[in-house]
Amino acid sequence: MITKEQIVDALKTVKDPEIGRDLVTLNMIGDIAVREGSVAINIKLTIKGCPMKRTIEDDIKAAVGNLECVKSVNISFGEMSPEEKQQLTASLKQGDNDKADVFNNVNVIAVGSGKGGVGKSTVAVNLAVALQQKGMNTGILDADVLGFSVSTLLGIQGKKPVALDNETIMPIQVNNLKALSMGNLITSDKALIWRAPVIRGVLDQFFYSVRWGDLDYLVIDLPPGTGDVPLTIMQQLPKAQLLLVTTPQSAAAQVSARLAKMAQQMDISIMGVVENMSYFQCPECEHKYYIFGQGQSEKIAEELNVELFAQIPLSIDIRENSDTGTPIALKGDDPSAAYYHDLADKVIKHTKKV
Ligand SMILES: Nc1ncnc2c1ncn2[C@@H]1O[C@H](COP(=O)(O)OP(=O)(O)OP(=O)(O)O)[C@@H](O)[C@H]1O
Ligand SMILES: [Mg+2]
Repeated sequence: MITKEQIVDALKTVKDPEIGRDLVTLNMIGDIAVREGSVAINIKLTIKGCPMKRTIEDDIKAAVGNLECVKSVNISFGEMSPEEKQQLTASLKQGDNDKADVFNNVNVIAVGSGKGGVGKSTVAVNLAVALQQKGMNTGILDADVLGFSVSTLLGIQGKKPVALDNETIMPIQVNNLKALSMGNLITSDKALIWRAPVIRGVLDQFFYSVRWGDLDYLVIDLPPGTGDVPLTIMQQLPKAQLLLVTTPQSAAAQVSARLAKMAQQMDISIMGVVENMSYFQCPECEHKYYIFGQGQSEKIAEELNVELFAQIPLSIDIRENSDTGTPIALKGDDPSAAYYHDLADKVIKHTKKV
């Protein structure tokens, strides 16, 4: 004989794929009926017509169907009442992002550079994937509101987050990672012509309304440069550690380093330097071509009194996997993935615990 308690226990193992918490905690379980091994469960969705309905159904069938004596599982869907939604929203806010101590219990790694196009976003996304693969609960926030690219790099361009209200936006779950980018909030590729105050408003919402849940790491992909926007972001993240991305070319490396100088003036600690596009290795003869020169990033790391964490070559694999939205770091056995996994080890080692 199967009891309702056993069914509820099984349902505790099923997570809402978008909110990332179990269905019982989220109060999504409606009526449960059991008759001679046939189980009927009503699930109260947060939003009627939730796109993840099928996943929830499959996961419940797998969890409950596995119990002894269960012959069939029938699932019907309803919607939470406005009061239930309100309760859920309140419980999701609890203990989470309080404006006064935002990101207090999470290690924030800001990936940035004073220069554009050096590979910040590629590094940020692959680092986040590698941290997650090492068992760290990781989120990635694309703070480059105008030049967003994290959604494309993760293959979630256009995928909308669940928003229970204006202050309760759930990040998108992808490869066990939590992510949010402007590319998830707007539909068209139309250029965004926003002045700094509007961008700040969007960033405020990113910082205070996204319910990341318990994270070990939040990787932030900064916009390029040392202008008003990166400055504002860094002011809001006094406990963040900066990972500076450079390329080896002398002039480029100097411009990249300006962001670190800015961080120093703001008392934001610099974690380390990542040199990207370090060389190209010929696939036939294995000769390394130092297209942009050598030695600059070492010099900058020394000046900043931090380690040069990684020298990542120019690689067709890295570029192709970025374009297809499947970050190379997901492919643990690929030689190019190793650069990001080693980088994640360095980041973990140098994390100042919050
Ligand atoms: N190691 C690498 N090998 C090959 N291509 C790379 C590498 N790193 C980055 N790229 C490519 O270089 C381009 C710029 O990379 P990315 O968008 O990550 O730079 P960014 O610094 O974030 O740029 P922006 O300043 O515009 O935000 C992309 O086309 C990316 O695929
Ligand atoms: Mg970028």
